Amino acid sequence: MLSLVGVGVRTVSFLRIQVYSVGFYADLNNPRLKLEPSMTPDEKIQEIVKTCACEIRIVPTRNTSYSHLRDAFIRAITTRLRDGRKDGTTTEEEAIEAASPIRKLKTLFPNTALTKHSPLDIFLYPPTPGQPRALTFRDLGSIESDWVAREFVLHYFEGEGPSPALKEMVIKAIESL
Ligand SMILES: *[C@@H]1O[C@H](CO)[C@@H](O)[C@H](O)[C@H]1NC(C)=O
Repeated sequence: MLSLVGVGVRTVSFLRIQVYSVGFYADLNNPRLKLEPSMTPDEKIQEIVKTCACEIRIVPTRNTSYSHLRDAFIRAITTRLRDGRKDGTTTEEEAIEAASPIRKLKTLFPNTALTKHSPLDIFLYPPTPGQPRALTFRDLGSIESDWVAREFVLHYFEGEGPSPALKEMVIKAIESL
């Protein structure tokens, strides 16, 4: 069962325009999830995303287009890939394996508007041994890749993340776990 862990708003910085709200859901009752009091908040988030089913729900607060979101997603994941190679957290093998699912991710989104208040749900399946992890964009399609699926969700928590309020709320919610 997924439960809501945190929500926040994404604001385009220099215009201070709110573009979407974002919610993070996770199956925190997963028995394989092992959190220790000594872990930092970032380590706990990593562990949750690595182990559990998760969902990101994006709800636009103004009319937008799928291509806007797609471009932002692709930018986020390619930045993460580049940074991961630089600091050694992403192996060359992972980078090579990620190329084809990233290309597929680019093709999932229709050339249409995404209207205000219509949610886009992105579901990260729990890991299954022997199978690449799936990330499903509801009604649009899926990609299968351990690295892309996990890192896509983790980018919401890199630094301040796209929405600092989301990260703050998630950190508070998992503080005592
Ligand atoms: C947003 O899009 C919907 C559906 O296309 C339209 O009915 C509505 O007027 C639009 N709102 C704005 C503020 O452009």
